[in-house]
Amino acid sequence: MNDIVVEIKNVTKKIGGKTIINDLSFSVNRGEIYGFLGPNGAGKTTTIRMMVGLMSMNSGEIIIEGHNVVTDRAKAMMHVGAIVENPELYKFMTGRQNLTHFARMSGREISQERIDEIVKLVELDQALDKKVKNYSLGMRQRLGIAQALLHHPSILILDEPTNGLDPAGIRELRDYLRRLSREENISILVSSHLLSEIELMCDRVLIIQNGQYVGERLLDGRQEGELAEEMQAIQLQVDQPEKVKQVLQDTPWSVASEEGNRLMLSLSHEDIPKLIAALVSQNVQLYEVRKVTPTLEDTFLQMTKGGRIL
Ligand SMILES: Nc1ncnc2c1ncn2[C@@H]1O[C@H](COP(=O)(O)OP(=O)(O)OP(=O)(O)O)[C@@H](O)[C@H]1O
Ligand SMILES: [Mg+2]
Repeated sequence: MNDIVVEIKNVTKKIGGKTIINDLSFSVNRGEIYGFLGPNGAGKTTTIRMMVGLMSMNSGEIIIEGHNVVTDRAKAMMHVGAIVENPELYKFMTGRQNLTHFARMSGREISQERIDEIVKLVELDQALDKKVKNYSLGMRQRLGIAQALLHHPSILILDEPTNGLDPAGIRELRDYLRRLSREENISILVSSHLLSEIELMCDRVLIIQNGQYVGERLLDGRQEGELAEEMQAIQLQVDQPEKVKQVLQDTPWSVASEEGNRLMLSLSHEDIPKLIAALVSQNVQLYEVRKVTPTLEDTFLQMTKGGRIL
């Protein structure tokens, strides 16, 4: 099996002479939760509509599990589960009746066991025999996700799934998406205009603005592969900043910025203990040595050169 589930290659979309998506390329790996971040109007929904074959493109191509979304649509869509607008649910039927109905309509073999398994994963087992009209927004969304997963897709695509959910609902969504990606080995693409959400939910994030690629980043805690020689930002808290600068004069390192007793330096992982040893040998009182990981917001601002904050 290929490790790349979805490939977007140089996709451009124009509507009424206006370029909405401009030469956009990215790919989603198997099993990852991929964040698709951009301010309102950036082109997230448009891209997703093209990915699920609901909208044409002017140039470029989208490949899902090796199948071109335009020329081989049915095969490509076999591997996709998506909620683009509101999930289509029958309000006067129970959750179970909805799922059974969609399983039948899908034209594929979907067993009762599969329905039970999926319902457990999205924690809907308690409510399954209640009518959908009595479901909360969060429960309807879970049922929509369960429906999208019935046929074992390789990728689940959700456009702004946290819209309208309260903080507890957002947290639950995060938890069961994580469980899904682990237990079903499914890739999940989640769009959002909120940095904080993507940061908590995703393994990797793509940032777009004005329909264009801005950058991609692995998210915190998933950077263990960090190269020893890669430069890192370190913050020191000391008693005498001036003395530190004097000590550093005879070393390869220098202070990048300072604020009171806090100094920022950029150095490699391997140099950190050497720097500490040099400072301690000169009797500098070190209160704190901290690695500073740039937040997604820092990265975004840096990538967009201080452009608008989402
Ligand atoms: N059918 C259409 N006709 C004209 N312009 C459109 C159409 N659909 C989208 N657009 C424009 O394309 C741009 C991208 O829209 P899109 O809905 O993809 O953004 P988005 O990132 O999903 O935004 P949001 O966060 O508000 O959902 C916007 O400027 C929008 O006005
Ligand atoms: Mg949108």
